[in-house]
Amino acid sequence: MIRPNYKTPRDITQEEVRAICTIKDQSWPHSMESQLEWWKKYTAKNDVFVTLVNSGSILAFLRLRNRTVSVRGVCLGALCVTEVCVNERYQGQGLGMQLLDAAAAYVKKTNSSVAYLLCWDIQEPFYAACGWHRTDASPQIESASGQESRPLAKNERCMIFDPQNRLNGRIVLFGDVF
Ligand SMILES: CC(C)(COP(=O)(O)OP(=O)(O)OC[C@H]1O[C@@H](n2cnc3c(N)ncnc32)[C@H](O)[C@@H]1OP(=O)(O)O)[C@@H](O)C(=O)NCCC(=O)NCCS
Repeated sequence: MIRPNYKTPRDITQEEVRAICTIKDQSWPHSMESQLEWWKKYTAKNDVFVTLVNSGSILAFLRLRNRTVSVRGVCLGALCVTEVCVNERYQGQGLGMQLLDAAAAYVKKTNSSVAYLLCWDIQEPFYAACGWHRTDASPQIESASGQESRPLAKNERCMIFDPQNRLNGRIVLFGDVF
């Protein structure tokens, strides 16, 4: 039976991190050493790791990062989804959708109850099939320092999960959006 699992940096095991990095490496090939270094460097204390697990094996992974967005000048807490990946042996069987459902269930329980992610145009149909929507107004991305700002590239998409329609308007995303 495939189940969603939610972990924090405090309770995830090194064995689980290695299993996740093995799946990530299929899509974003580096070395395992580099994957583990990246994990250590870019994991924040309040990240949430969402996995799909079958008989103790991790089949799919995504990360939820705590972020802030500004909508028509008003700041709002939001979760940013990154590193969405399904073990290549199990792709095309509905696991990606199950993983996004697990993320949505988590997001709905948070105060802000909104989430966003950046992807390429060719990935938009997958997220649309999962019930996410492309933002109407093109968002602006500001660096964490606030010193740099850029619009989305032509083939970049900002997809949102926003059941309460709180992201209605021009959005500014802050900080790292990978
Ligand atoms: C993208 C990914 C997460 C999808 O997971 P998956 O388990 O293969 O997808 P699912 O089987 O749950 O498919 C769900 C729906 O999305 C569609 N879909 C899946 N991948 C798609 C793609 N690349 N392009 C268009 N549609 C896609 C499916 O057809 C299905 O729609 P349907 O229900 O109408 O048939 C997976 O292929 C993956 O890990 N890819 C490599 C990493 C990656 O690119 N991640 C995204 C980074 S933004």
